[in-house]
Amino acid sequence: MAKETGRALLVGASRGLGAGLVSALSARGWDVTATVRDPKRGAPEGAASVERVDIDEPAQIEALHGRLADARFDLIFVVAGVSTADPTTPIHRESLSEALRLYRTNAISPIVFAEAFADRLAPGGMVALMSSTLGSIGRNTDGGYDAYRASKAALNMLARSFAARHKGIGVLIMHPGWVRTDMGGPQAPLDVETSTNAMAEAIAARRGLQGVAFVDWENKEIPW
Ligand SMILES: NC(=O)c1ccc[n+]([C@@H]2O[C@H](COP(=O)([O-])OP(=O)(O)OC[C@H]3O[C@@H](n4cnc5c(N)ncnc54)[C@H](OP(=O)(O)O)[C@@H]3O)[C@@H](O)[C@H]2O)c1
Repeated sequence: MAKETGRALLVGASRGLGAGLVSALSARGWDVTATVRDPKRGAPEGAASVERVDIDEPAQIEALHGRLADARFDLIFVVAGVSTADPTTPIHRESLSEALRLYRTNAISPIVFAEAFADRLAPGGMVALMSSTLGSIGRNTDGGYDAYRASKAALNMLARSFAARHKGIGVLIMHPGWVRTDMGGPQAPLDVETSTNAMAEAIAARRGLQGVAFVDWENKEIPW
C-alpha cells in the first residue's frame, strides 16, 4: 500500500468507528488529530495529537477552532453520533426529549461543526460525515429505528445544504456498514477494522470530490 499524505481531523474518536478510523488513516500515512469528549479516558491509537470537543457545545467548538487556528486539514470527518436506548421504539411512543437529543447530536451538531471548521480546510479538502443507510429515505421499506433514521436523514439533508453553501468543498456522507461497536452491538456482521480500512480506502478514492456523495464503506453509492 502506497503511503498517503494529508492531515485529518477526526471528531468523535474516543472509541468505536472513530477510534478505528484514526488507526486506519494513520496506518495509511495520514497525520491525524483526533477529538474526544474526555481526554482523561485515553487517546485513540495512532493519533498524532488529541483534542477535546463535545459537538453539542458551541463554546467548545469555538475554543477548538481557536486552538487549531494554524492547522489546515485535507479531511475533516465528524464521526460522533448517538442512538436511542431502545431503537425499536416507534416515533409516536418515543419521548420527545430523546428524539430531539438524536436530532441535535446526529443532524445539527455535525453541520454546526463543519460550518465552524470550513475555514480550516486546505484547498481541495473534504468534509466527511458519518450517516447510515438507515438515513436513506429510498431504502426505508421496513420502518423501525424511527428517531435514529429521521436524525440521519436530516443529517443528509443538512449536508446537501452545506455542500450547496460551500461549492468548493467536497462532502462525503458515509455509511460504515453494521459494525460491532457499543452502538452496533455484538451481533453486527462487520468488525471495526474491516469497516474502517474500507472507509479509508473509499476516502482515498474520493479525494478531490466535487459536490456531495452518499456512499457505504465499500464506496458504493446509496440512494437518498
Ligand atoms: N456501529 C454501527 O453499526 C453504525 C452503523 C451506521 C452508522 N453508525 C454511525 O457511526 C458513528 C460512530 O458510531 P459507533 O458505532 O462507533 O458508536 P459508539 O461506539 O457508540 O461511539 C460513539 C462515538 O461518538 C462520540 N460522541 C457521541 N456524542 C458526542 C458528542 N456530543 N460530541 C462528541 N463526541 C460524541 C462518543 O464519544 P464518548 O466516548 O465521549 O461517548 C464515541 O466516540 C455514529 O455517527 C453512528 O451513528 C454506526
